[in-house]
Amino acid sequence: MKQFFIQTFGCQMNVYDGQRIAAMLESHGWVAAPDIESADMIILNTCAVREKATNKVYSALGRIRRAKKPGALFGIVGCVARESGADAFRRIPDLNFVLGPQSYHKLPQLLENPDAKLLNIDLGGLEKFDTLPRMVRSPAVAYIPIQEGCDHCCTYCIVPYTRGREISRPFDDIMADTRHAAETGAIEICFLGQNVNGYKYTDAAGRTMRLSDLIRETAKIDAVQRIRFTSSYPTEMTDDLIAQFKTEPKLLPFLNLPIQSGSPDVLTRMNRPYSLDLYIDIVDKLRAARPDIQISSDFIVGFPGETDADFDMTMDIARRVRYINSYSFKYSPRPHTAAALMRDQIPEQIKSVRLARLDGFLNEIQREFNESCVGKTMTCLMEGGDKTGQNLVYRTPYMQQVIVASDGDAHPLAQIKITAANKASLRGEFVRD
Ligand code: SAH
Ligand code: F3S
Repeated sequence: MKQFFIQTFGCQMNVYDGQRIAAMLESHGWVAAPDIESADMIILNTCAVREKATNKVYSALGRIRRAKKPGALFGIVGCVARESGADAFRRIPDLNFVLGPQSYHKLPQLLENPDAKLLNIDLGGLEKFDTLPRMVRSPAVAYIPIQEGCDHCCTYCIVPYTRGREISRPFDDIMADTRHAAETGAIEICFLGQNVNGYKYTDAAGRTMRLSDLIRETAKIDAVQRIRFTSSYPTEMTDDLIAQFKTEPKLLPFLNLPIQSGSPDVLTRMNRPYSLDLYIDIVDKLRAARPDIQISSDFIVGFPGETDADFDMTMDIARRVRYINSYSFKYSPRPHTAAALMRDQIPEQIKSVRLARLDGFLNEIQREFNESCVGKTMTCLMEGGDKTGQNLVYRTPYMQQVIVASDGDAHPLAQIKITAANKASLRGEFVRD
């Protein structure tokens, strides 16, 4: 049997795309290869959001060329494919395929004609969802995309170029995928979108459905125990959605609500037109709805023109909201974006100093939050075993990792008492009734 090997970089949307590519090849009789050396086809599922991510893909391609067996096909799918287009073939002439995030379902064309060079970076909209075969079994956490693309056009971000305009999938299609996932093993549903809380779909009868409707409908499925969604845009956090945190216990008390910067000037230049007051107001409403909620953020430091005073405002907002589980990045100029052309690009060394300060602070809050969990009992979802084989790894409702000594019985959803904590993870023990 022919074997494929997929390596995925980047966001949850890519993780989902990788699973769909695997299911598609399996439906053609292929099986997963244990390593690159034994694969007949190697697929790099790529991320272009920062320059470093793109560079990583090209260095991985160099390694794959040397390691793969003669005649094995190899190529790239995802955002670097869309970013590079035909240029990828100029950089790596023996590459076999370059397929964008909305055209990877064309890969079987190569199975029929392996000598062709397959290039397709079209924005096919929702076509891929309609043509891909269903997954046979769902993992315990099912990622369900509810939209493609993004219309926000933040000036630093390549995603609106690589994944195109925002399109919300039909409500019934999403619910069919969700039910199928629940019937085949999913315990947690994570709705995905670049602007997930902006989901809006009007059906033939003229009813407009939002993310809150998806959550309400999904919570009725018995097998689904946990619901979450990512990534949200601050001003799309509407009252109907905030109310779900009060009324729907299956919705986890954890929300990624990226602020990116605490400086109003920088936010304006980022084309993220919300005020800090409005953002704080949303956080306050969320906390009123669900007192145990925790918020995480993405931050960019060193955006063009960012002064020391601007950066201090980012530190201030981090202190004020006390974000957990956050991501912070140095600004990276990307092709096809407005910010790459702005004057006052910040020197690398200043970006590094600011990132270290912000990360230092975020890690401190994370440690404090983790320590505050010691002694508490939480319902956690199993992720798998650790490297030693002695322990099991679980996720708390706040997405912290908990390590528990295995008792020989695998409980997908377990009550775990937290016994110790450090910056990166927790330790715990099963609570038996
Ligand atoms: N809404 C998306 C955001 C995609 S990009 C999502 O689903 O996650 C993820 C994060 O990468 C952004 O929130 C931002 O903090 C960061 N990012 C995007 N473009 C960047 C750039 N040019 N330089 C540095 N960080 C960037
Ligand atoms: Fe990118 Fe901003 Fe959309 S970060 S994905 S353009 S909300």
